[in-house]
Amino acid sequence: MQSTRAKLIEILSNNHEVYASGQRLSELLNISRNAVWKHMKELEKDGYVIEAKPRKGYRIIQSPNKISTNTIRWGLETDWLGKEIIHKTSVGSTQLVGHEAAQNGASHGTIIIADQQTAGRGRVQKNWDSNGDGLWMTIVLRPNIPPNRASELTLLTAVAITNAIQQMTNIDPLIKWPNDILINQKKLCGILTEMQAEQDQVQYILIGIGLNVNQSRQHWDKQLQNIATSLFQETGHTFEKHTLLQQILLQFERTYNNYVKHGFHYIKQQWEKHAFKIGSEIEITTFHEQWVGKFLGISDEGALLVESSEGSPIKLYSADIKW
Ligand code: BTN
Repeated sequence: MQSTRAKLIEILSNNHEVYASGQRLSELLNISRNAVWKHMKELEKDGYVIEAKPRKGYRIIQSPNKISTNTIRWGLETDWLGKEIIHKTSVGSTQLVGHEAAQNGASHGTIIIADQQTAGRGRVQKNWDSNGDGLWMTIVLRPNIPPNRASELTLLTAVAITNAIQQMTNIDPLIKWPNDILINQKKLCGILTEMQAEQDQVQYILIGIGLNVNQSRQHWDKQLQNIATSLFQETGHTFEKHTLLQQILLQFERTYNNYVKHGFHYIKQQWEKHAFKIGSEIEITTFHEQWVGKFLGISDEGALLVESSEGSPIKLYSADIKW
């Protein structure tokens, strides 16, 4: 059950431009006006800055710089994404929490976010370093698509995160197929898509996002320093993670709505605008051969499109690429 405190934040968050009177809050929350006032004092102790105006009421003007369900909610401009938030201080993997939540009926757009993961998962059974000050989150989606279209959502996520980073930093990151987001050729963000499906229908999809935010270069060992980066390293300043998360959720929701309305073609166009090494020669290793071709873009199904030496476009669904 939602606490009075969480309800109070939710009401104030939905109207953060306008004042909510003590009378109205006491009616909505079914508590006395004195109790409303006490809750406001508690919020202030928690780092919220609250403006109280006689005859007008209360308004939150700043939330504390920490991730919590309350700080995420305050100022979140989405319609359906992040309406259910599961926040954990420490967890094995937000993907595991996501599977459990989805199997117990978590709704489309639920998000799971952790301050720290002790067993963060990357693609192809790799570990994902989640000790530093990054964003570690999972989005639960229930799209009406067959399982073979799930990879479109990985590409969609990359577009949304790229847009959010552009909005927050003015830097234009690149997307390395299928799911890495790069700045200055170093990995800033990884995306892990997992799903539960029946033969012709997805039950749910989990989009795991690992975004390096405030880690310094020294956070990583020498080997990782050459391939990983964070927003702090690229811009020289630290970021409020709840604000960044709100921007990611907003961009994700817009991109997803456009995908539902206009189809994958919309995502393909956006994705190709940010594609790392598009138009360049890349080296491809598949199960049986190794060859060099020109990276043309992605196909209508999200496969990598490469021009062979004979000039014909070839679709690759999985391959080891030397970029
Ligand atoms: C990759 O290999 O590039 C994908 C990395 C995905 C990491 C994120 S962090 C949040 C979510 N929980 C996990 O355990 N993994 C994903």
